[in-house]
Amino acid sequence: MASATPVPPGSHITICEVGPRDGFQNEKTFIPTAKKIEIVNALFASGLRHMQVTSFVSPRAVPQLADAEEVLAGIDRPEGAFVTALVPNLRGAERAAGAGVDAVHTVVSASETHNLKNVNRPVDQSLSEFEAVFATLDKAGIAIEGGIATAFGCPFEGIVPPRQVARIAKRYQELGASSVSLGDTTGMATPLTVQAAIRAIRDAAPGLEIHLHFHNTRGVGLACVMTGLSEGVTHYDASVGGLGGCPFAAGATGNICTEDLVYLLQESGYESGVDLDKIIAAATLTQEVIGRPLPGQVLKAGPRLKRHDPDLTVTAAG
Ligand code: COA
Ligand code: ZN
Repeated sequence: MASATPVPPGSHITICEVGPRDGFQNEKTFIPTAKKIEIVNALFASGLRHMQVTSFVSPRAVPQLADAEEVLAGIDRPEGAFVTALVPNLRGAERAAGAGVDAVHTVVSASETHNLKNVNRPVDQSLSEFEAVFATLDKAGIAIEGGIATAFGCPFEGIVPPRQVARIAKRYQELGASSVSLGDTTGMATPLTVQAAIRAIRDAAPGLEIHLHFHNTRGVGLACVMTGLSEGVTHYDASVGGLGGCPFAAGATGNICTEDLVYLLQESGYESGVDLDKIIAAATLTQEVIGRPLPGQVLKAGPRLKRHDPDLTVTAAG
């Protein structure tokens, strides 16, 4: 087993905002393109610089993201912005290259059943089709984050052995991915399974950068981030307000929440470059657009040292 060096406090941690992709894809009512653009711009204004803005998938499979090109054409890209999009196949890679993304997140699942549900082909077929995908993106100078869905468990198959995840990571490394992203599609990750998957990849594919993508389905998403930090991982996906979920995975709910992650990192001595008040403002806007309360907790409670007016709070006079 590869040994781990924890990320030292004071380090920069990259947060990749995935609400506009993982969050919006799961919303039943179509979010108007202009509203998507407004939210993306508010997220960038909070200091976030990495964002998965949309998906280049079949509009029949995911109608909510049928406006991928329009969203990418409409957003502001502040200095240092790193814009990514999800791509399942060659057609998606060609569309992403035409729309001007900085990186692409390819998607394959570690479990056969979820891959069939999600992209309608066996795992090995996805992997062999990635050769043409990588060639197209390489030619366009676009970096590739190799996404591995159901990396910590599958809602249809149960346990996903770390060696299955490591095999795909190794293949991604051979294809030339700059990183792999371990997706916890239905929130089955726990601190121990996170540690096991990271260590299996470090053994099978030394030097490959690992990103972590947790959903908070069972309430241990931020605990898994702490495990990631102790295993040396510096890149985490999160979703504004805790939006998120895969339409092709039973029981999927929201990602770990961006404001909650910013708060945790800030209070743990890490630096993310994100302003907590501004990300809460972006979450408030997102909640208004979505039209229902979002799960984020810092959104509800505010920062730890937010002061309340004693005159507005009842006194327990006996
Ligand atoms: N973008 C737009 N359209 C696409 C496309 C893409 N990336 N890939 C395929 N299509 C279109 C084809 O042009 C074809 O259209 P037509 O019937 O009008 O000719 C149709 O979709 C079917 O194409 P096919 O290659 O047979 O795909 P499929 O039916 O086997 O579906 C995927 C495969 C990957 C396209 C589909 O399952 C998909 O988009 N999945 C994404 C799921 C997702 O986003 N999950 C959440 C994130 S993890
Ligand atoms: Zn996800």
